[in-house]
Amino acid sequence: MPESRRRTFSVVFQPRSGRSERGVQAPLGRRPTTARPEPNQPEPPTAAAPFVRVNEVSKSYREGAVETRVLRSASLELARGETTSLAGVSGSGKSTLISLLAGLLVPESGQVVIDGQDITGLDDVSRARLRARRIGVVLQSGNLIPFLTAEENVRLAIELAHGDRAAARARELLSEVGLARRLDHLPRRMSGGEAQRASVAMALANQPDLLLADEVTAELDSASAERVMEVIFDSSRERGLTVLFVTHSSELAARAQRRLRIADGKVRRV
Ligand SMILES: Nc1ncnc2c1ncn2[C@@H]1O[C@H](COP(=O)(O)OP(=O)(O)OP(=O)(O)O)[C@@H](O)[C@H]1O
Ligand SMILES: [Mg+2]
Repeated sequence: MPESRRRTFSVVFQPRSGRSERGVQAPLGRRPTTARPEPNQPEPPTAAAPFVRVNEVSKSYREGAVETRVLRSASLELARGETTSLAGVSGSGKSTLISLLAGLLVPESGQVVIDGQDITGLDDVSRARLRARRIGVVLQSGNLIPFLTAEENVRLAIELAHGDRAAARARELLSEVGLARRLDHLPRRMSGGEAQRASVAMALANQPDLLLADEVTAELDSASAERVMEVIFDSSRERGLTVLFVTHSSELAARAQRRLRIADGKVRRV
């Protein structure tokens, strides 16, 4: 991979380093070794603690004089190692919630707590670092870097997270989602469904603890959708991955261990 492209990556992704402008920090999301935690360090998790807790978050968008209130004191919990589906009509706020959980957006009020750590109190760099290490995100709009091939996209995510066997692991992941014959394709030379599948492989590349998947099967035929969901469900069963996936399919939603629905700015159990 040429050096110029490598430099671009480290801007797009936060490097996996323990340093920030404020100096060397303890790894994010891990329990501090000191008896008295610093502000924004994780609370010690208990056995029953959910992996994710969203506590009364509110989020609006403002465009000129128009304000769209999307989430109104919405709360939810994701159990550690479980799969949860999220449904709701178009425009109800599913993608907004995914972005809040990924730390890509910050709520106006409320907290998003991941493995005991309130990420709403972190600065942008720390949230990006936490995401690079522990969270896999598949955005509805896709998240591939346009000038990298499928294999390079996945390899990059592996290299930034742990670097171990990156090329071989990238090929394995892409094969698992059925893209073994598309390794050298740039995103513009993939179909919408292929790009979605490559995005899933990329999101799993850093072996995350939490996967947030926004309508990843929307453009897939039923066999490809089944294959992608099996990769995700297998990761949850085998590695204890906590999964939240957005879907409009009630059949797919029913396969999750828990089901959530968003309406009127609130999230409810189904
Ligand atoms: N950046 C933005 N600026 C202004 N309004 C926005 C913005 N992003 C989303 N919205 C509005 O917020 C509401 C929720 O959007 P969101 O994308 O979260 O919905 P969704 O449930 O994911 O919908 P879909 O099922 O169509 O993907 C919508 O009314 C949308 O128009
Ligand atoms: Mg959406």
